[in-house]
Amino acid sequence: MTRILMVCLGNICRSPLAHGILESKLNSLDFYIDSAGTAAYHIGNQPDHRSIKVAKQNGIDISHQRARQFKTVDFDTFDYIYAMDSSNFDNIVSLARNQNDIEKVKLFLEENPKVSNKDVPDPYYGDMGDFEYIFDLINTTSDLIASRLL
Ligand code: 4NP
Repeated sequence: MTRILMVCLGNICRSPLAHGILESKLNSLDFYIDSAGTAAYHIGNQPDHRSIKVAKQNGIDISHQRARQFKTVDFDTFDYIYAMDSSNFDNIVSLARNQNDIEKVKLFLEENPKVSNKDVPDPYYGDMGDFEYIFDLINTTSDLIASRLL
């Protein structure tokens, strides 16, 4: 079993999409996917309605997900920890206990050689077009991750 954690700030916009999208491409017997936020603002909340909507438009249901905060024990549970942007990356690494923890953390878009800006833009203050843009970015990158893992 390979365990992969997607992390953003609030765990309501970007990482729930990355969680649902990658999960839809992998066999659940071999892969466990989860998501978390570095901040505590939205603990227990459903994903943002715009993330739920764009996922649904693309055949993926993320409405059952609930936000949680990243915790140090996640370094023990997960094999790969993907940060949606460099600020999330720094926040996760600041909680690492050793080099082994740090080596699990990677910028999600580092898996996509076609994009030069390695931050998934935060769509929280944006509109539906921003959510459609990040859906496509996360979907394309998840295809690359899935093909590398399979
Ligand atoms: P996320 O987006 O990190 O992609 O879930 C955000 C959600 C909430 C806030 C910021 C970003 N917020 O400031 O509450």
